[in-house]
Amino acid sequence: MALLIAAPHRETDELARLMVARMPNIDLRTWPEISRAEDIRFVLAWQAPRGLFAKLPGLQAVSSLGAGVDSIISDPEIPSHLAIGRLAGPRLAANMAAYLASMVIARWKDLPGFMRDQQRGRWNQWAPEHPPAIGLLGTGQMGQKAAEVFQSLEFPVHGYSHSGRGPDGVTMHHGDTGLARIAAASDFLINLLPLTAQTRDILNQDLFANMRRGSVLINVGRGEQLIDADLVKALAKGRPACAVLDVFRQEPLPPEHPFWAHPAISITPHCASITLTAEAAELAVESYRRVLAGLDPLGRVDRSRGY
Ligand code: GLV
Repeated sequence: MALLIAAPHRETDELARLMVARMPNIDLRTWPEISRAEDIRFVLAWQAPRGLFAKLPGLQAVSSLGAGVDSIISDPEIPSHLAIGRLAGPRLAANMAAYLASMVIARWKDLPGFMRDQQRGRWNQWAPEHPPAIGLLGTGQMGQKAAEVFQSLEFPVHGYSHSGRGPDGVTMHHGDTGLARIAAASDFLINLLPLTAQTRDILNQDLFANMRRGSVLINVGRGEQLIDADLVKALAKGRPACAVLDVFRQEPLPPEHPFWAHPAISITPHCASITLTAEAAELAVESYRRVLAGLDPLGRVDRSRGY
C-alpha cells in the first residue's frame, strides 16, 4: 500500500517529511517516482499530470492538496469509481478570512489615502460612517469563516449558494435572481465559489451591471470564473469601481496582461490562502488512514455537483 504525492509545481519535501513523522511505516512516493504503480492507493494531487490517475490500477482515492478539486475533476481520464477529497483545515479558512478582512478594511477605511496624507504632512481626520455590506458568493467552509469574521465586525453579510442555505444571521440568496440581488446589495462582492460548469464565467457583464456604483469586486475563487474583458469594461463604468484579484485564467499572470497596469485592479499572486504544510500533513495522513480503513477521504466531494 502506498501514497503518491503528485504536485509537480510545488515544493513537497517538507510535507513528505512531516507525513513520515506522523506515520513512520508509510510507503510514500513523490511523482514522477511511481515504481510498483499497482501499490498506490491514494494520491495527494495538485495540478497532477493529466491521465495519471488512470495509470494507477490500485488507486482508491485522490485528495486535493488544497481546497479546490477542479483540476482533479476536470481530468477527462479520471476513473468514475475514485473517491475525491480535499484538504481544507480551519487554518486555511482562517487565513482566507484574514486576507479578505485586510482587503475590505484597507479600502473601507482608505488606508492608502492616509499614507498619502502622511507623505504630504496632511492631518485629514475622518472615518467611514457606515459599515460596508459584504456579499459572499459561496458559503462553504471558507465563506462561513469569512461570514463569521465580518459579522464580528458588525458588517451586514449577504451570502449566495446553490441551495440558498447559509450561516445564521447571513441574508441568503440563490438562483439567477438571487445573484442579481446580492450584487446589488453589496459594497464588497467576494467570490469564493468552487469552479464548476455552473460557475465558470459567472463574474461577467450581467453581474457587473447589477453591482453598486463604487463597489469592489474581490475574486479569490478561480480565474476561469471571471471574464477578463467584461471586468475592464465594467471598471470604466464604475460598477465595480475597483477589483482585487488573487486568481487568474493563466497563472502566473502573463507580463503582457492588461490587469498588471490597470489603475483600478489590485493583484496578489494566488496567495490569499495557501495550503499550510503542517496542517496539510496532518490532514493528509488522517485522510489516507481513513481510505485504508475503507472510509471516505476527508472532505469527500460530490462528483455530480463538482465540489
Ligand atoms: C487554492 O486555490 C486551493 O484550492 O486550495
